[in-house]
Amino acid sequence: MKSGKIIVGNWKMGPESLAEAEDLFKKIEAGVAKKSGLEVIICPSFVHLAELSKISKKKILLGAQDVFFESAGSYTGQVSLQMLKNLGVTHVIVGHSERRALGESDEMINKKVALALKEKIIPIVCIGETARDEDGQYLFAIKNQIEKALAGISRKLLPSIIIAYEPVWKIGADSPMDSSDIHQMMIFIKKAIVDFYKIKTSLAGQILPTPILYGGAVETVEAGKILREGGANGLLVGRQSLEPEAFLQIIKSA
Ligand code: PGA
Repeated sequence: MKSGKIIVGNWKMGPESLAEAEDLFKKIEAGVAKKSGLEVIICPSFVHLAELSKISKKKILLGAQDVFFESAGSYTGQVSLQMLKNLGVTHVIVGHSERRALGESDEMINKKVALALKEKIIPIVCIGETARDEDGQYLFAIKNQIEKALAGISRKLLPSIIIAYEPVWKIGADSPMDSSDIHQMMIFIKKAIVDFYKIKTSLAGQILPTPILYGGAVETVEAGKILREGGANGLLVGRQSLEPEAFLQIIKSA
């Protein structure tokens, strides 16, 4: 795995106008220092991707927030991977909890992961429990999400996949998860992938080539700690990615 950190900004449904989106993009890109290994990926709305791709100085990579799971056909309102690829998009968020809440199933997510990999677009696969319970059932739910998303995906493709662990109850919250809890989850997720692929090595956690990000109320104060103490390979940032100064500070902490 690359040693540098990965910082993803998920702009969700903002900003409302192209002018605002361009302004935000330019401010962020101007503030991003060229640092070897560090990857900054912005995922704007579909409608702003084409123009942002034109103004990008390529210090920032472009991602989409979703994609359709069929590559072509009569699908009203859907966007294909090829369309995104033609715009220079390199990453796509798959299975965000806000899309799962709208009915996206594990099967759909699996199809999207497979299609993205086939087209050489890196899927950022979101997993995470909606709530916690004392018995730890939520861990089985996370394991299940991982196994369903990666079903039929070759182990050789693990370096081309990013996993984003986002405890759903922390998305939109006031503060992120505690770094020590994040650290435990990073280990759990690595182990779940290693077990799923039956990778035989006691050092599996260190050699797993799949970066694992943390997302959920990431903000400037805690960002560095999540990366250092939480052991995350990067961050998936929602609200704070729409605030250029805050987002640049988060990037600096990487
Ligand atoms: P948040 O969103 O940073 O605003 O909590 C994170 C996400 O939904 O990816």
